[in-house]
Amino acid sequence: MTTPRSVRIFDTTLRDGEQSPGASMNRTEKMEIAQALVQLGVDIIEAGFPIASPGDFESVRDIATAVRGATVCGLARCSDADIDRAWEALQHAAQPRIHVFLATSSIHREFKLRMTEDEVVARAVAGVSRARRHCGDVEFSPEDAARTELDFLCRVVEAVIAAGATTVNIPDTVGYATPQQMHRVIKTLRDRVPNIDKAVISVHCHDDLGLAVANSLAAVEAGAGQVECTINGIGERAGNCSLEEVVMALRTRRDHYGCDTRVVTQRLVPTSRLVATITGIQVPRNKAIVGRNAFAHEAGIHQDGMLKDRSTYEIMRPEDVGLERTDLVLGKHSGRAALADRAKALGYQLTPEQLQTVFERFKVLADRKKEIYDGDIAALCETEFAALPEQFTFDRYVLSTASGSPPTVELHVLQSGQPVQVTVTAGDGPIDGIFLAIEKATGMTTVCRDFRVQAVTVGKDAQAEVTVELEHAGQVQRGRGVSTDSLEASAKAFLAAINRLALGAQPRLHPQA
Ligand code: KIV
Ligand code: ZN
Repeated sequence: MTTPRSVRIFDTTLRDGEQSPGASMNRTEKMEIAQALVQLGVDIIEAGFPIASPGDFESVRDIATAVRGATVCGLARCSDADIDRAWEALQHAAQPRIHVFLATSSIHREFKLRMTEDEVVARAVAGVSRARRHCGDVEFSPEDAARTELDFLCRVVEAVIAAGATTVNIPDTVGYATPQQMHRVIKTLRDRVPNIDKAVISVHCHDDLGLAVANSLAAVEAGAGQVECTINGIGERAGNCSLEEVVMALRTRRDHYGCDTRVVTQRLVPTSRLVATITGIQVPRNKAIVGRNAFAHEAGIHQDGMLKDRSTYEIMRPEDVGLERTDLVLGKHSGRAALADRAKALGYQLTPEQLQTVFERFKVLADRKKEIYDGDIAALCETEFAALPEQFTFDRYVLSTASGSPPTVELHVLQSGQPVQVTVTAGDGPIDGIFLAIEKATGMTTVCRDFRVQAVTVGKDAQAEVTVELEHAGQVQRGRGVSTDSLEASAKAFLAAINRLALGAQPRLHPQA
C-alpha cells in the first residue's frame, strides 16, 4: 500500500464557528477551546478576526501568545488596516498565519464590491503582498469561489500565489456546490494554474444543502491538502464542514482516500462536548461520530449481530472517537485526584485553584445526587471556566403557584454583592414568573429568543442544563445554568445571559461585510 498523503486540518470553530447566531464566546472560553484544539492535534487554529472588535483582537493575541504546537491564524479583509491589525494580534505566535480574503464571484463583484475583474485581482495581490511583508505563512480565500467563473478563479489563484500566498483556500461560502463540482474546481486549478505547486490548496465548505462534508471530501480526492472545518459543524447559517465527520471519514476510509490527518481521534468526543457546553449549541442525538446515538444499537437484530462480532454493524470503535462505553464514574467518596483525572480525560485542564472550587461543588452535588457522570463533571468544570465577572448573582427564590393562575415569585439576587429582593405575581407558569422577577430585579427588559432544557445525564435526579438566548437593544447573548432543580437552573441561565448583556458586548464587524 502507498504511504498515505497528509491532509492538514484547519479549525475555524473560533472564527466561522463563532458566527453561529448566539454562539459568541468570551476570552476565557476561546482560550479553553484553543487549548483543546491543540490537544486534538489540529494543524491550524483560526482564532478570530482581529479587526472585528477589541474583544476579537485580544482573543487572537492571547491565543497566539499561549498556543504552541499549532499554527495560529487571524482573518483579514484585503485592506491595510485589517492586515496590520491581524499581524499586531499574531506577532507573538510561534507559527503565525494571516488569512486574507476577497470575494471573486460575479454576484459579489457586481452587487457587493462594485469592482471589475482587474480591480479584484489588483486588490487581492496587494492584500497578499502586504500580509507577506509581515509573515511567511499567508492564506488567501477568494470568497464565494464555488460561484466564481472558473477562468477568473484560475487567474486570481495564479496571481495571489505569484504574490506570495502559501495556501489558497476555495470557499463554498453559500453552500451551493455539489461534490462533483467541487472535485472539478480543484482539479481544474491543479491542471491549469502554472504555479499551483507553490501553494497548498484548501477547501472551506458551508452546509446549506447538507453537503459540506461530502464537498470537502471530494476536494480532498481531487488533491486538496487542507480542509477547513469546525467542531460539531457549527458556523454561519447551517454551519461549516464538521471536523469530526471529515476526520473520521478520512480515517475509516483510508483505503479509499489514501490520506491521513494528525488528529488524535480519541479527543473528538471530549472536544465536541466542550464546544457544545461553551456555545450552548447542543449536538443532535443522531449526529454522526459525536451524537449520543452514534454508537447505540437499538434493533434486536443489530444487537444480536454485535454480540456475535462487532464488525457486523460497527465501522468505527466508540473508543476511537473518545466515547467511553460507560460513563458512570464518581460518587460521594471519590477524591480530588480521581476528579482531576476524570476532568482531564474530558478535556479540562484545571489549575489547582480551579480544581479546589470544582471539588467543593462536586461534594455539594454528590450530597444531592448519588451517581456522578461525565456530563456532571463537564458541567461543573464548565461553570468554573465560563465564569465571567457577574453583576447579578442568583441567591434563591420562593415560589407559590397553581395551575391556571399566575405564580407569585419572591426572588433574591445579589447585585455586585448587595442583596436585592423583588416580588412579582405574574407570568404564565413558574419559569415565566421567575424570568419576569429577574427582569424586575435587574431593570433589564429582554426578548427571549430561545429556551432549552435538557438532562445533563440519566436518572430522575439528573441535573438540568438550561440554555437561554436573550435579546436586548440589538444584542443577543446566551446564558447557561445547571442545577438539580430545573427552576434554579432556569434562573441561573437567565441571569447569566443578563450578565453578558450588561457587560455590553462591543459592536463587531462581520467578515462578509
Ligand atoms: O465562507 C467563507 O467564504 C469564509 C471566508 C472568510 C473564508 O468564511
Ligand atoms: Zn465560511
